[in-house]
Amino acid sequence: MPSLDVVVKEIADEMRRRTERGEVASYIPELARVDPAAFGIAVIDATGNIAVAGDSETPFSIQSISKVFTLTLALGKVGDRLWRRVGREPSGSSFNSIVQLERECGIPRNPFINAGAIAVTDLILSGHQPREALGEILRFMQFLADDPTITIDKAVAASEQRTGFRNAALANYMKSYGVIENPVEFTLGVYFHHCAIAMTCRQLAMAGRFLVHAGLNPSTGARVVSSERARRINAIMLTCGHYDGSGEFAYRVGLPGKSGVGGGILAIAPERASIAVWSPGLDAAGNSHLGRAALEALTKRMGWSIFGA
Ligand code: DON
Repeated sequence: MPSLDVVVKEIADEMRRRTERGEVASYIPELARVDPAAFGIAVIDATGNIAVAGDSETPFSIQSISKVFTLTLALGKVGDRLWRRVGREPSGSSFNSIVQLERECGIPRNPFINAGAIAVTDLILSGHQPREALGEILRFMQFLADDPTITIDKAVAASEQRTGFRNAALANYMKSYGVIENPVEFTLGVYFHHCAIAMTCRQLAMAGRFLVHAGLNPSTGARVVSSERARRINAIMLTCGHYDGSGEFAYRVGLPGKSGVGGGILAIAPERASIAVWSPGLDAAGNSHLGRAALEALTKRMGWSIFGA
């Protein structure tokens, strides 16, 4: 087995030399200010060893990666009732598609497309003020990452709040079917803010560890979710975590993973490692171009694909 440290450093060097990096997201204006040359990686193996390289200590906007954690929280609150509001099939369409929602009577295909994540956020919000719901989500991230310094990038949240017309359309459409309970502007406010949580690769890899360890937080031994729930969250990450790029991600990388338009990807090798990569340039499906390339190289060299070495 090659040394993880060596492999991670090699991959960061290889990614630094690549010229094709994809396009930085600009539909959220604040995200367009990020350095397109950035690349970071952090890998935490099953025994807790951490290997990092590149810009692994630079905070970036986690965006849709937050949806893994809001799904986890919402399942903890309402259990399987969640599946009455949201499906769990891959969408085969873009993350902000409107047309599918109309065809399926306001029920989003899965919790990771924008419509589904907005519906999940609404479940967390019910019975609370937006500020309380957001505080709960942020504290959950801090607890999982074992790091109370994690914060929300207010400029990114405000930028999306000003320009998130398509998400507003999705939320209003779901509201017309009763899939959203709270005032649309409250639900969207919480959604935009949890997408704007800023984390480093190291913090994100820390937060993903409970999905490696069958639902346990390895630093405290505390159970975050049951092993069955951890397995199922991983299954949804595998099938839906990269939108209409999920098949390609499974084919090339072979791990449950969740991308964000900030250029981050959290990938889970069950019982082996929690991995966070970040490179802001995106492919046509809105997933990090170099992030996926780095994960493909890592799983190949370490033999970590869930489909076999
Ligand atoms: O709602 C949005 O469009 C963003 N806050 C999140 C989208 C996203 O990260 C899609 N991921 N690749």
